[in-house]
Amino acid sequence: MGDERISKHDLILVASPFQGHMTPMLQLGSILHSKGFSITITHTKLNSPLPSNHPHFNFLPLFDNFSSIDASANFTNFVQLLNDNCRMQLQQLLTQKIQQNDHQITIIHDNIMYFAQEVATNLNVRSIVFRSCSASYMPAFLALPKLHQQAHLPVQDTMLHKLVPDLYPLRYKDLPFNNTSTEVLKEMLTLSNHITNPSAIIWNTMDFLENASLTNLQHHYHIPIFAIGPLNEMAQCPSTSFLEEDTYCISWLDKQAPRSVVYVSLGSLATMDEKDLAETAWGLASSKQPFLWVVRPGSVKGSDWIEFLPDGFLEEIEGRGLVLKWAPQKQVLAHSSVGGFWSHCGWNSTLESISQGVPMICRPFFGDQYVNSRYLSYVWQVGLELECLERQVIVSTIRRLLVDDEGEETRKRANALKEKAKYSLCKGGSSFNSLSNLVEFILANST
Ligand code: UDX
Repeated sequence: MGDERISKHDLILVASPFQGHMTPMLQLGSILHSKGFSITITHTKLNSPLPSNHPHFNFLPLFDNFSSIDASANFTNFVQLLNDNCRMQLQQLLTQKIQQNDHQITIIHDNIMYFAQEVATNLNVRSIVFRSCSASYMPAFLALPKLHQQAHLPVQDTMLHKLVPDLYPLRYKDLPFNNTSTEVLKEMLTLSNHITNPSAIIWNTMDFLENASLTNLQHHYHIPIFAIGPLNEMAQCPSTSFLEEDTYCISWLDKQAPRSVVYVSLGSLATMDEKDLAETAWGLASSKQPFLWVVRPGSVKGSDWIEFLPDGFLEEIEGRGLVLKWAPQKQVLAHSSVGGFWSHCGWNSTLESISQGVPMICRPFFGDQYVNSRYLSYVWQVGLELECLERQVIVSTIRRLLVDDEGEETRKRANALKEKAKYSLCKGGSSFNSLSNLVEFILANST
C-alpha cells in the first residue's frame, strides 16, 4: 500500500454524543491514525471529547443546541433534532475543506448521526457506517417490524420465555424494545430507515464471537462488513470518559483479596427507581462479598446522587463496599481483585469484560443489552442471568459467580474467550486482517 495514498486521504469521523458510542469511535480513530491517516473528529458541543487527550486528531465541533441528554425524554425526537441541527454545518465545513486541498475524503459516521450520509452523497464522497452495538443485535432489530405486525410486540407476559421463531437462541424477553410502547417502537424503526446507501459497515466485534450473525448481516446488506474489535484492546487511547473517573477505587481494590470483588456498573444511560436501588443495595450488602458500585449522578430517578440509598446501608458496608460516581472501568476490570462484573450488558462493557476474562452477572435495561445478555449467559456461557432485582436473588447470583464451582467454570470459559479475543488481534487474526482490508477498501478509490 502506498504511503502517499494514505497521507492524501483524510478521514472524517462523525461521533455521537453518547458515551457508549463516543468511546469506540475515538478508539477507531486512534487505530486508523496509527495506519497513517489524518483523522478529524466531528462532534457535537454536547459531550465534546477533550482535544488535549487526543493531540493527534483534528476536531470539528458542531453546534447542536442541546445542553444535556435527558435519558427519560423522547429518544427519537432527540436524535432527529440532533441530525437536523448538524446537517448544514457539516456540509459547509466539508465544502471548505474540499476547496482547501486535493485530499480525498471518506466519512465514517456513527449510525445515529445519519445526516453525515446525506452530506456525503451531496459532496460526492464515500461514507461508511460505524456500529458500536453487537452484530447479534441487528438480526433481532431487523425482525422487529414483522414481529410488530404480527402483534408480538410489546411482548405479552405469557410469551416472555418462549423462543422467537427464526431468531434462535433469543426468547421474546431478549428482543430489543420488548417492553417498549408501540408508538415509540414505530419511531425507532423509522429512524433506522434514514441510512440507505453506505458503502460499508464497520462493526466493533470479532469474527469468532459473532460469526453466524455477521454472515447473516452480510447476506442482508450486500456491502462489505468489517468486523474489527475489540477496539478497546486495539487502541492506545487515553480516557474518553465524559465524567471524571474516581481513581481512589484502584487503591481500594489493591487491598482486597484476589478475584473477590463484584464490580457493579450499569453504563452511561440506564436508570433505576428507588425500590430497585434499595434491593440492589441490600442484595450487595447481604452477599458478604466486597463490591465496587458505580451509582452515576442522576441514574436514580429523581435524585442527584446517593440520597435515596436506604438508611443504614453505608454504615453496614463500611470497609467492604465502595460506592462511587464513575470508575476507570477498563482499569477496574483489569484488576486482579475483581472476580465478577454485574453489568447492564452494554456492548462496550461486554467487550471490555471479555477482554479481561471477567465473568459477568447480566441485568439488561434496554435495546441491544437484552440480546447481549442472552449471548453472554446462554451462548458464550461467561455470564449468569440475574432473573430479577430481589435481594435474595441478587445474593444467590453473586455467590454462584464468586463462591460456587459454577462460578469457577464460568471464569474458565471467560478466560478462554479472552485468549481467543487476543488471538484475533495478532497478525493473521480476523480483526487484524479485517483492519487491513478496511484500509485497502478506503484507499481503493484514492488516486
Ligand atoms: C450504550 C448502550 O447502552 C449500549 O448497549 C450500546 O451498545 C452502546 O451505547 P452504555 O449504556 O453507556 O452504551 O454502555 P456501554 O456500551 O457499556 O458503554 C459504557 C462505557 O462507559 C464503557 O466503555 C465503560 O468502560 C465506560 N464506563 C462505565 C466507565 O468508564 N466508567 C464507569 O463507571 C461506567
